Amino acid sequence: MAVHHKRKKKQSVPVVMFGVLALALAALGAAIFLLVRLSRKEPAAVPGTMTPQVAEQTAVSSATEVTATATVFTATADSSTAVSSESTAPGAVSSEALTTASAAASSAAPASAATTAPAGTVTGITLTFYSTVLHVGDKPVMPIVTMSPANASNKQEIWQSSNKAVATVDSLGSITPVAPGECTVTVTSVSNPAVSAEVKVTVKGADTQPQTTEGSTVPAGRSDIQVINGITYVQGVMIANKSYPLPADYNPGLDANALAAFNEMAAAASKEGLKLTICSGFRSYDVQKTLYNNYCNRDGKAAADRFSARPGHSEHQTGLAMDINYAGDSFNNTPEAKWLADNCWKYGFIIRYPEGKESITGYKYESWHVRYLGKDWSKTIYESGLTLEEYFGIDSKYAG
Ligand code: DAL
Ligand code: ZN
Repeated sequence: MAVHHKRKKKQSVPVVMFGVLALALAALGAAIFLLVRLSRKEPAAVPGTMTPQVAEQTAVSSATEVTATATVFTATADSSTAVSSESTAPGAVSSEALTTASAAASSAAPASAATTAPAGTVTGITLTFYSTVLHVGDKPVMPIVTMSPANASNKQEIWQSSNKAVATVDSLGSITPVAPGECTVTVTSVSNPAVSAEVKVTVKGADTQPQTTEGSTVPAGRSDIQVINGITYVQGVMIANKSYPLPADYNPGLDANALAAFNEMAAAASKEGLKLTICSGFRSYDVQKTLYNNYCNRDGKAAADRFSARPGHSEHQTGLAMDINYAGDSFNNTPEAKWLADNCWKYGFIIRYPEGKESITGYKYESWHVRYLGKDWSKTIYESGLTLEEYFGIDSKYAG
């Protein structure tokens, strides 16, 4: 029987040499790497901090879109310092300070990112009113401010008057009349000075206060007439004519429903190839006063009273009346005037001063002047063939 002896296998010399060499090279590489790293003196990472690049990327990625005019606020020392120093200042801030804050913030904004702002930045301001007429000695008025978005982190306001000799404003937005004139009161967001809103302020003196004592007296036996805050309503319909004036400070602007109804009407006319535009909509007491006085100067009072309302008596001050295309007799026989007379009632309007009714409405025929009543009333009045005065049984006559 054959016996096999195991032979011990011997390593060859070249193989052993190669292994030793490889180990030496690896050790040398590690040593060189450590030396190079130490020589670059990179700062050690500290928990809770970011390198500038990382911080910038984070700010951009968390930004939200705002209006094109809004300024971006990056977390630079310059802009944040300027704005926060304003935000901690007590009371009203000077215009110079505001300008400084604005400029610092603007210059910090990269042009390429001019339509973004960090989340929580104020992007809009709305007010409860944008114009006011005050008299010297009146109590202050204060518009209510709403800043958006609702979750904006800093809703502080800066208030300024363009002319403190006319009206002042305090740090809460309380506007106090000082002397006759006009000025603008501006509220600006502290967190985003690019966002602001304005109130046009008109201050009248005691000697120019409106005299609207005539009218607004409910005729005896009329339970369907109400006077609320100086405004007369007949069966719920607001009236402004020679007998029933509006308060001088009634400044509603053009009524949103009336405008929407006009747009609907204009779209319908357009389908028939006719173009309707509003050439005069809301007119304030003061605008009407200027118009009326100009007509009086040009034509005399008696003539002016036949086609222009005295201040406080114009239906345009209700925000519910409009002149269509052209306020003059050359509009009378146009296809648009004919279409308006036949169709405006379908959209909530009536021709307010029809031909041949001057002794009732108080005004010559105005084919261009429509009054918004809403579709129910406009249909009723149109189908009655009567003027508003006739339908409601009211006068349109100046008291004096
Ligand atoms: N032209 C109308 C009557 C107005 O002045 O209100
Ligand atoms: Zn008119």
